Amino acid sequence: MNVAITGATGLLGAHFAAALATRHRVFGFDRHPWWAQADVKIQQGELADEGQRAAFIAAADPELFIHCAAMVNVDACEERPAEAYFSNGSLPGLLARAAKPGCVFVYITTDGIFSGDAPMRRENDLPCPRTVYGRSKLHGEWETALSGREHLIVRTNFYGWSSGLKQTSGEWLHAALAERRRITLFDDFWFTPLYVTELVERVFALLSAGRRGTYHVVGADRVTKYEFGQQLADLAGYPMDNVQRGSIASAALRAPRPRDMSLNAERTARDTGLASPTCADGIRRFLADRGRTLEERVAYLRAP
Ligand SMILES: NC(=O)c1ccc[n+]([C@@H]2O[C@H](COP(=O)([O-])OP(=O)(O)OC[C@H]3O[C@@H](n4cnc5c(N)ncnc54)[C@H](OP(=O)(O)O)[C@@H]3O)[C@@H](O)[C@H]2O)c1
Repeated sequence: MNVAITGATGLLGAHFAAALATRHRVFGFDRHPWWAQADVKIQQGELADEGQRAAFIAAADPELFIHCAAMVNVDACEERPAEAYFSNGSLPGLLARAAKPGCVFVYITTDGIFSGDAPMRRENDLPCPRTVYGRSKLHGEWETALSGREHLIVRTNFYGWSSGLKQTSGEWLHAALAERRRITLFDDFWFTPLYVTELVERVFALLSAGRRGTYHVVGADRVTKYEFGQQLADLAGYPMDNVQRGSIASAALRAPRPRDMSLNAERTARDTGLASPTCADGIRRFLADRGRTLEERVAYLRAP
């Protein structure tokens, strides 16, 4: 199968690319060069450029298209809304429609499409995003659904080890705990985090089962940022004595963040036969994968 992946050098895209490259021809598109061993052909460029997009899709001619590229910085989206709506909202529809009929289009989206006022949101709950990032990603969900292509819309929240080009939130937290830096973690902000390979595993299972539509693919446990840090510290054997509890309500953030981002992933568990992993399961994998190559981390995954 020919597979196209945008954002292929980023945290999630690279894990998809390396896992799929063991069985398929993988064509990636990103602003940055490929950084691992797996056989991934990268076109370096800018997706906003119509000619570069067209050349990529013509070369890849994908049967499976996984769209991971996005404007992911929540504050930057607030500052540059037109760019955010184009990148996160319009681009998914343009890419999906440019792929041939029969191509399955996977759109990676966020728990931030909900208001954050209630816990464990389900797929059919009414979205009400609070941020430009959330609104633009919801727009992307609609564009995907309206594209006429077979599609999977995956709402998630994940962490993992990246190329190192941009520090991810999980890498930042691990480094801060390991170095005993003074940090503050919110104890009034909830989410359902999932380790990145567990996310890839579940998307593969949904694809293998021929599932389409919208799925919440997250971990089983609703935890605060503080509780997540506490579990990471406990499992890694790091002290928590320099970690303070903080409140998102009193933090000076440019974009007003939702308070409860937790999602219910029972539909994914039912339709894949894979139980949602606990927070501790994910953290154990994250710690075990530290220092492994990307290819070693994805070696247990079975590409569809
Ligand atoms: N990380 C999370 O917890 C989380 C939670 C919910 C949803 N998501 C969604 O998951 C997806 C993947 O996230 P990630 O954390 O893997 O992001 P990431 O590490 O930032 O990877 C995205 C990659 O795409 C590139 N890119 C973005 N826009 C592009 C464009 N217009 N043209 C070419 N390349 C472009 C980025 O380059 P630059 O870095 O130079 O922009 C980056 O290399 C995104 O759709 C995001 O909205 C992430």
